[in-house]
Amino acid sequence: MIFLGIETSCDETGASIVRSESSGNKQQFQILSNIVSSQYIHSKYGGVIPELASRAHIRLIVPIVKTALDVAKIRYQDLDGISVTYAPGLVGSLLVGLSFAKALSVNLKIPFVGVNHLEGHIFSLFLSYPNLETPFLALILSGGHTELLMIKDRCQYESLGSTVDDACGEAFDKVARMLGLSYPGGAFIEKLAQSGNRTIDFPVPHLPGYNFSFSGLKTAVLYYLKAEKNPKPEDVACSFQEVVIDFLLKKVRLANDNLNINNIGVSGGVAINKRLQKRFEEYGEKHDMKFYFPLPSMCADNAAMIAAAGIERFIHFGSSPLTLTAEARVKL
Ligand code: KG4
Ligand code: ZN
Repeated sequence: MIFLGIETSCDETGASIVRSESSGNKQQFQILSNIVSSQYIHSKYGGVIPELASRAHIRLIVPIVKTALDVAKIRYQDLDGISVTYAPGLVGSLLVGLSFAKALSVNLKIPFVGVNHLEGHIFSLFLSYPNLETPFLALILSGGHTELLMIKDRCQYESLGSTVDDACGEAFDKVARMLGLSYPGGAFIEKLAQSGNRTIDFPVPHLPGYNFSFSGLKTAVLYYLKAEKNPKPEDVACSFQEVVIDFLLKKVRLANDNLNINNIGVSGGVAINKRLQKRFEEYGEKHDMKFYFPLPSMCADNAAMIAAAGIERFIHFGSSPLTLTAEARVKL
């Protein structure tokens, strides 16, 4: 099967062509193209402006889809289906991709499949590791979500916990802003932290169970910056980043202890962080856990992961109704 995937949930306009073949009871995916356009327009505002994001998606959706088809050397009439993110995200942005996908599916008389964005991040792991066996634990760390799940099988998930306040990437972005760095700030924090040391004792958040919280840590950084006359930004970045990693590892360890699952996939924009990857891998070696990080092109938002998730959903559950609507918040 050949699917077009479309992603417009936030500030990335993405289109991708993915081919799949059955191998045993699994689909093996081949990415024929994966085009992403990030909207830099938001950086000067320090965060995503929803109305600007929707307008940019409207401008970009047709050329991005056309480019994805051209790069893959695929024509519209070669497509077997279209998958598109329908939730969660910015409703105006989601509607651009969703309406476009519905219109195209009616016109081409092919199925369309609505995909939950978080399921896309799970499929970035299947795309990067075709032989990754279930069950495994998945930790999704993005700008909008922080979620720990048990992946029982493809399309069968159990959420163990999620953030009660800010998302992990959001905390990176907010601390970056406090340090005068551009939006989105995660990569800038990582870079700055390389020249810093862990000299500041920011508190590791305390929260029982599998839930996450980052707002206390964010506030601790804010108070530190207000109180300190000459704060060293590189030490703040480094100390903050190390505490985030400690906290995430604590939660993963708890799930590993309780559920005895040693394979852990980490996905979402924050998963590209090299320091996080290194510390997770070192921790895994000590505690008999194996961590899987998506290919760099699969960490941040992209449409290949949406195409792959859509193919698998189509095989299990068929197409989505044309009445499917965009939703800002919806559980996986
Ligand atoms: O998955 P993603 O592209 O979009 C959402 O679904 O939200 O994740 C974007 C998030 C942003 O908060 C960004 O600051 C963060 O990923 N990020 C990073 C790094 N690169 C991107 N966080 C930490 N270190 C990085 N190198
Ligand atoms: Zn995402």
